[in-house]
Amino acid sequence: MRIIVLFLAMLLFGCAAIEKQAKPEISAAKKLYRSNCSICHRLYSPDVYSYQKLEHYVDKYARGISVQERQSLLEYLKGASKE
Ligand code: HEC
Repeated sequence: MRIIVLFLAMLLFGCAAIEKQAKPEISAAKKLYRSNCSICHRLYSPDVYSYQKLEHYVDKYARGISVQERQSLLEYLKGASKE
């Protein structure tokens, strides 16, 4: 009996953990943000900057990324920025 309760608890916990995970596109874009935007300075939290400013910095500094990566990065920053 104890085993079954434990099993159910683990199952519930497992589902909650999966639900908490961000959408895959978002984590991919976050990864892009982390790897491209913390080379020269610490990783700035996007929520203290306007989208306009972040877009400016993406165009200024994220030169090595593809068109699709830029798109996905900007999509993420749109949601994560201050305005
Ligand atoms: C090649 C080095 C380099 C890379 C890579 C880089 N930055 Fe920067 N970043 C700088 C420098 C230098 C400054 C300060 C001068 C300026 O404003 O351009 C700066 C400033 C900033 C600021 C302004 C900080 C403030 O408080 O005023 C933001 C926001 C920023 N970067 C975001 C980004 C983002 C987003 C990326 C990824 C796309 C990125 N940076 C990648 C060099 C870099």
